[in-house]
Amino acid sequence: MLQETCRVIRLERLSADTWHLFLAAPGITARVHAGQFVMAAVGAGYDPLLRRPFSVHFAEGDDLILYFRVVGKGTEMLASLHPGDRLSLLGPLGKGFKLTEGLAILVGGGIGIAPLLLLAKELADGNNPAAAIILAGRTKAEVTPLAASFQPWTKNLIFATDDGSFGIRGRADEAVASLPPMPGAVVYTCGPQPMLRAIAHFCRDHKMKCQVSVESAMACGMGACLGCARPAARPAEGGGYVHVCLDGPVFDAEALPWD
Ligand SMILES: Cc1cc2nc3c(=O)[nH]c(=O)nc-3n(C[C@H](O)[C@H](O)[C@H](O)COP(=O)(O)OP(=O)(O)OC[C@H]3O[C@@H](n4cnc5c(N)ncnc54)[C@H](O)[C@@H]3O)c2cc1C
Ligand code: FES
Repeated sequence: MLQETCRVIRLERLSADTWHLFLAAPGITARVHAGQFVMAAVGAGYDPLLRRPFSVHFAEGDDLILYFRVVGKGTEMLASLHPGDRLSLLGPLGKGFKLTEGLAILVGGGIGIAPLLLLAKELADGNNPAAAIILAGRTKAEVTPLAASFQPWTKNLIFATDDGSFGIRGRADEAVASLPPMPGAVVYTCGPQPMLRAIAHFCRDHKMKCQVSVESAMACGMGACLGCARPAARPAEGGGYVHVCLDGPVFDAEALPWD
């Protein structure tokens, strides 16, 4: 893990509230694996005091990309950076996706799409390109700006929108259920908790392996504050809690309780 002062290359607005931030971050880029995250010091002073966690969306050469949604002060500050500005990142942090054998199905909902682009690249680099990638969001305007970056990594890019304005009408888990059977497939997913719960249940019922990337409030990102603790699936065996920043953010779905 490094603390790296990164140079802002550019920002691209993708939709009303989503952005790509391109950074020169050679140290973190050389070390990161899909599903890991960085803690970004979004303000130069003490406001906001705490760094903010973001998944690494993509990394290649010296370039690192974040995909983020503006939800509050910190993300507003990220969206107002300019080329040449500096941004301090701590990372890569946490445990990412474990690439396993078998057909890979990637499922992202909303801003949970963020860690899946680097995963798609790593799968393709390992000669197991994603059998399907499902990108789900509220509207066409939210998901279509991501099409060009995901297209090279799969022959089966599927969209789902809540309002039916693009692709399948419905949620990501409904799009997963509509896929033809893929024996031995592994589902890699990130998104809102209800979506993850539905996909975890679907995979359990269909005997498919599933890895989920979960979010949690995080103050330190490295095991010091215990703010990201959440119950484990089998507390009696596993000691009660997991820490999303150290044990995750990616977990086997069976490691977490969903009911
Ligand atoms: C491991 C991890 C990876 C993440 N990756 C990404 C990413 O790639 N892209 C991205 O846009 N966001 C990501 N997030 C969420 C991101 O960290 C928060 O959106 C960000 O910290 C908000 O900061 P803020 O100062 O703008 O908002 P704040 O002012 O801190 O909060 C504004 C509002 O957003 C809510 N909020 C804050 N954090 C979260 C959260 N984690 N989940 C849900 N609601 C939240 C608050 O409750 C509040 O209502 C990730 C979070 C984690 C834990
Ligand atoms: S965020 Fe501090 S322990 Fe996980």
